[in-house]
Amino acid sequence: MTHNGFDEELGRAVVIGGGSGMGLAIADALLAAGSEVIVVGRSQERLADAVRELGDGRVTAIAADISDEAQVARIFDESGVVDHVITTAADPTGAYGPVRDFDFAHGRGFVETKLVGSMLLAKHARIRSGGSFTLTSGIAAYRPSVGGAMVAAVNAALEGLARALAIELGPTRVNVVSPGWVETKIWDKLAWNDKDERLRAMAERLPAGRLGQPEDVAAAVLSLLRNRFITGAVLHVDGGHRLV
Ligand SMILES: NC(=O)c1ccc[n+]([C@@H]2O[C@H](COP(=O)([O-])OP(=O)(O)OC[C@H]3O[C@@H](n4cnc5c(N)ncnc54)[C@H](OP(=O)(O)O)[C@@H]3O)[C@@H](O)[C@H]2O)c1
Repeated sequence: MTHNGFDEELGRAVVIGGGSGMGLAIADALLAAGSEVIVVGRSQERLADAVRELGDGRVTAIAADISDEAQVARIFDESGVVDHVITTAADPTGAYGPVRDFDFAHGRGFVETKLVGSMLLAKHARIRSGGSFTLTSGIAAYRPSVGGAMVAAVNAALEGLARALAIELGPTRVNVVSPGWVETKIWDKLAWNDKDERLRAMAERLPAGRLGQPEDVAAAVLSLLRNRFITGAVLHVDGGHRLV
């Protein structure tokens, strides 16, 4: 049922990265909105935990690595046509480091999942006309840190990719959500021994006065899915981080 360019029913959605963090919160919000959800990730165990936690008969899981084209094609062979595809997938292992010492073999997984994986999804996703594809970039594109060149480059590239895909795949809508610092387990993958202190200091710096929660990003994603006149856009969910 639609009115004023706004989809009230979200239909079926595939959430890549739906086993944890923002992806899990997006899956939860979609289920609460009446959607049927397929969560995708590499770890079968993480997906099984997510399906248990979501506790809803309308959620199923497909284990796949989106950096591998055959596995991406298999996701959509199994799902058939869906209304929305959202990817939050990223593995930052090896992605941070000063450029002069950068170990490209170790850091390449970030590019292959986040950037190449998004292109593979664009190639193989079976999205009904008027549905949507949502990518996840991040604040590093706007506020890079020393040692964060690879992450900044990939996040910025994703936003260009989405604008190009919005032209090429229309009327499927293609948008990006750009999170600031959000409390998820992704921070555990960074070898910071002062992680808690850095997160606390950032919360104090932000105009919003706190870090983001996965639910903040989920609410933003659902607004992009629902609004049928938004495409080629970047929605910042960063507590004002770009301003400080
Ligand atoms: N958290 C933040 O503060 C923050 C800030 C800015 C941007 N971001 C971006 O936001 C997105 C979500 O981050 P998050 O914090 O929710 O992280 P997260 O909890 O680590 O979630 C990432 C998910 O992606 C899946 N994944 C990783 N590589 C994959 C691959 N090759 N194929 C399929 N699935 C894969 C992981 O599952 P498996 O390991 O089981 O595959 C995991 O469930 C990421 O793109 C991240 O770069 C996060």
